[in-house]
Amino acid sequence: MSDKLLELNSIHKSFAGVTVLEDISLSVSRGEVVSIIGPSGSGKSTLLRCATMLNDIDSGEIIYMGRKAATTVDGHAVYAPKRELKEISKFFGLVFQNFNLFPHYSVLKNIMDAPVSVAHVDRNEAKARALTLLDQFGLSDKADAYPCELSGGQQQRVSIARALALKPEILFFDEPTSALDPELTGEVLKVIKQLAAEHMTMIIVTHEMQFAREVSDRIVFIENGIVVADDSPEAIFTSDNTRVREFIGKFNS
Ligand SMILES: Nc1ncnc2c1ncn2[C@@H]1O[C@H](COP(=O)(O)OP(=O)(O)O)[C@@H](O)[C@H]1O
Ligand SMILES: [Mg+2]
Repeated sequence: MSDKLLELNSIHKSFAGVTVLEDISLSVSRGEVVSIIGPSGSGKSTLLRCATMLNDIDSGEIIYMGRKAATTVDGHAVYAPKRELKEISKFFGLVFQNFNLFPHYSVLKNIMDAPVSVAHVDRNEAKARALTLLDQFGLSDKADAYPCELSGGQQQRVSIARALALKPEILFFDEPTSALDPELTGEVLKVIKQLAAEHMTMIIVTHEMQFAREVSDRIVFIENGIVVADDSPEAIFTSDNTRVREFIGKFNS
């Protein structure tokens, strides 16, 4: 059996006739950390939204752990039945740029809510797991706080804990630090590095080049909805490709 957790094959996506993703293929194996970089508007968020089925693809294939969420018939995407999609959705979690915590729930309830009410995990077990995650992320004293009482960095760590509470196989991040002040960015990147050390499989859209270089097994450079390069950090940072070099160069100056 292949250890591929995710395969995206020839993904096409357009909005109102404008192509945003053009023939994107990407696969991620268990334990891999893959960073996605590229200019603003190049389709990175759309790719994550398609992979996590928040947006429908026009054509292509989405396969999680050998199970097909979407395939293409006669040039058009066909999705698996709802029940199968629900099962497949348990394989992944998503962390957004703007945290998206429930403002009227405490930190603990934010983390426990989906495990208890969606996944029907025993309440005590969900609570124990939530507290373990908070402890792991240095937030033990914040269990009863509300999101508005936390810094952005703390909120983002809570939202990572919330995603992990459902025990996903893969965690997606869409620019997890770009809403944060520089001094708060580090604490969130540290948590992601911690997860990488534990071999969590992650796909991370980021503009933090140094972080991507340190944490990733592969870096994928996307421009205009196309994968321009998909290689090791060292190969990407020493790439001959003009576009890759120009892009990386902007962050080094
Ligand atoms: N829901 C949508 N409707 C119409 N256009 C969209 C939608 N979402 C994204 N786009 C367009 O798709 C392109 C890629 O956007 P996005 O995936 O957000 O890029 P990135 O995350 O790389 O900055 C942009 O031109 C954006 O305007
Ligand atoms: Mg984006």
